[in-house]
Amino acid sequence: MNHTTFVLFGATGDLAKRKIYPALYHLYIHGKLPESFAVIGLGRKELSDETFRAHVKQSLHDFYRLEVKDDETLQSFLGLFGFNILHIDRQADFVQLKERVERREQGVGGTSNRMFYLSVAPNFFGTIASQIEQSGLGSVTGWKRLVIEKPFGHDLVSARELNSQLSQAFTEDEIYRIDHYLGKPMVQRLEALKQANPVIQALWSSRYIANVQITADETVGVEERAGYYDQAGAVRDMFQNHMLQLLMMLSIHVSNGNAKAVNIRSKKKNVLESLEPLARQDVHRHIVRGQYAAGAIQGKEVIGYTSESGISPDSMNDTFIAAKLQIDNYNWRGVPFYIRTGKRLKSKNTRIVIEFKEPLGSSTPAKDSSVPNLLVFEIGPNEGITLLLNTNDPNHKGEFKQVHIDMFPDRMEAEEAYETLIHDALNGDSTFFVHWDEVDLSWQWVQPILEAFAAKEVPLYSYEAGSNGPEAANELLARDGFHWWFDD
Ligand code: BG6
Repeated sequence: MNHTTFVLFGATGDLAKRKIYPALYHLYIHGKLPESFAVIGLGRKELSDETFRAHVKQSLHDFYRLEVKDDETLQSFLGLFGFNILHIDRQADFVQLKERVERREQGVGGTSNRMFYLSVAPNFFGTIASQIEQSGLGSVTGWKRLVIEKPFGHDLVSARELNSQLSQAFTEDEIYRIDHYLGKPMVQRLEALKQANPVIQALWSSRYIANVQITADETVGVEERAGYYDQAGAVRDMFQNHMLQLLMMLSIHVSNGNAKAVNIRSKKKNVLESLEPLARQDVHRHIVRGQYAAGAIQGKEVIGYTSESGISPDSMNDTFIAAKLQIDNYNWRGVPFYIRTGKRLKSKNTRIVIEFKEPLGSSTPAKDSSVPNLLVFEIGPNEGITLLLNTNDPNHKGEFKQVHIDMFPDRMEAEEAYETLIHDALNGDSTFFVHWDEVDLSWQWVQPILEAFAAKEVPLYSYEAGSNGPEAANELLARDGFHWWFDD
């Protein structure tokens, strides 16, 4: 029988307890983990296996989305877990870890697979990868895989440096880069919807689409992450990764039956390669940046960004970014893609709106009462798809009224992002993971923005917490004769 060891760096951290243990538990109770499976948690403080299991159990009670029964299943799940102390600069700790992993593998026989999940700060990635290599932990009879999460670098140079460190120990095929937006059920549905529906496929081009709007608004502020966020800003925290991934997933064309990882990833790469490059001197015309001031969100007063603990009063960091992008390829030439994301906005909402063109060549008699057709993908926190159509208004002859065709998929049907992604990584399916080419190309595209921001060549607009962001983000669309939908 094959045996798989899930080696978790950062096992007492926040991500592990909120996402990774609940996801593993979900996969376990649904019979989706490998038959012979063990988790070794690693951390800097000594913990007995028992104490670690109690920690995992508590995490499930606190964070699994359904009730966790204290039954035999839970006990056998917890029995998969063990803990080792590990300081990443102590080679002896890696050797001990290797011995423990090997003991268990020898007990089972068969081939051994090892998945290294790095739930630690990115500045440790390089060292961990080389320790894995040097200690022999990376020598397996089956497969080995490395799972890491964003941020993948701070800019183009640091991303390349990190990648060259990782590639000394792991090949590109062995690296699974998580962008949790790619695990969101609606993002995965986008792919299926386009592939399986000729109605959608036929409309998916500049012939019918006037513009695309991708919004990820948040109500939370900087939270406890001042140190990281004040260096990152919305451009690195959300835009370079999640937002560009949404743009790629929306705009790729994959024909039916051709949705293999390699096809999807190469189509995504083509999209990034076709993005019209942004020269530094043009950044101020295509990009709006903002920072939240004090205000009220859903009736609750909140302080401004520069009054947050850990943020310097003269910080020029962006907590909001809006952008206009163009994809210069056959399907999308001439269709603006507007993207915006920010903290301390009016509501928590991630959605994509496709605005269709006016009926071809027509000037409809009741034009004033018709609105463009819209196709709306609600990605989170609620999921749904809505199509807005015009129909005749029986009460006002000659006028139109809008009808909504709604579909709300059953929430419980879908798995959580981490459940899907960990399952895929264990199965070697990299479709919804980020390829290095995407990281490299997205940093290349974003680099002039980082430079223009650093040189203060782009105004930093203040916006009131609880608003829809700075007015300049509205002007970005107004210049093209459009406006953001659903802002009221
Ligand atoms: C993370 C960012 O990647 O995504 C956070 O670091 C942000 O700042 C979060 O809050 C948003 O994710 P979601 O799934 O809540 O939209």
